[in-house]
Amino acid sequence: MDRRALLRQVLVACPAYALLAALAGTRGPAGPDAAARRWILDQQDLALALARGEIHPRRWQAEVEALLRRVDLATLSAEIGRAEARHVGRALPNYPVKHSLVFRDEAGVSRRLRYATALFRFDRGNVITPHGHRHMVSAHLVIEGAFRVRTFDRLRDEAGAMILRPSGDAAVGTGEVSTMSAARDNVHWFVPRAARAATFDVIVSGLDPGAPAFRIEAVDPVRGERLSDGSLRAPIIDFVEASRFYTAEV
Ligand SMILES: [Fe+2]
Repeated sequence: MDRRALLRQVLVACPAYALLAALAGTRGPAGPDAAARRWILDQQDLALALARGEIHPRRWQAEVEALLRRVDLATLSAEIGRAEARHVGRALPNYPVKHSLVFRDEAGVSRRLRYATALFRFDRGNVITPHGHRHMVSAHLVIEGAFRVRTFDRLRDEAGAMILRPSGDAAVGTGEVSTMSAARDNVHWFVPRAARAATFDVIVSGLDPGAPAFRIEAVDPVRGERLSDGSLRAPIIDFVEASRFYTAEV
């Protein structure tokens, strides 16, 4: 059995709901093992290198995709179980439930890291509607179920709109990763393809000194205007309208 198949088996045996149950339980193992500690610190090195401008966002995406794909899911589950978790809830009625996570060090003290982590749990009908980002990057590891992930490169901004080029429309299964930055796939859209689905997210914000930590805006690619060069002028819309139009069936 190859590693991907093995990973999928582990994830099926340890779904996100088990991870969330662990959040409500005790502290879990006494301390992180060496591999978990290394993984957390590798993420930190990448986040710091990105924030300092030492690596390009595309490099961050490639490296974080590799790190997330090779994480041992039992190890990650244990770390999530030990983490300080905060129930953030749903941003909109058809959005997934968010828990923010803060990993703990060997002494059980919350780590101060340059990146943030979160779990998003999708019930039937939940979606993350198409949206673009500024001043941040993010990575999304599917830890339960599967998603249709549509992505767009953000070529430029115009008044009230983003000029986009479709960059992907993929089925992303358990153990697989999707990332975004200003350089690649800046607009993304997640629709679950399973009754229950979840992602573990790594987020680095505050990347542009003097700017807000992040800016997230909903866009409407489906009702956008096709331009002569094949790109798309997608109007910026408010999240209430995005949530109304972009149901799981779109
Ligand atoms: Fe996003």
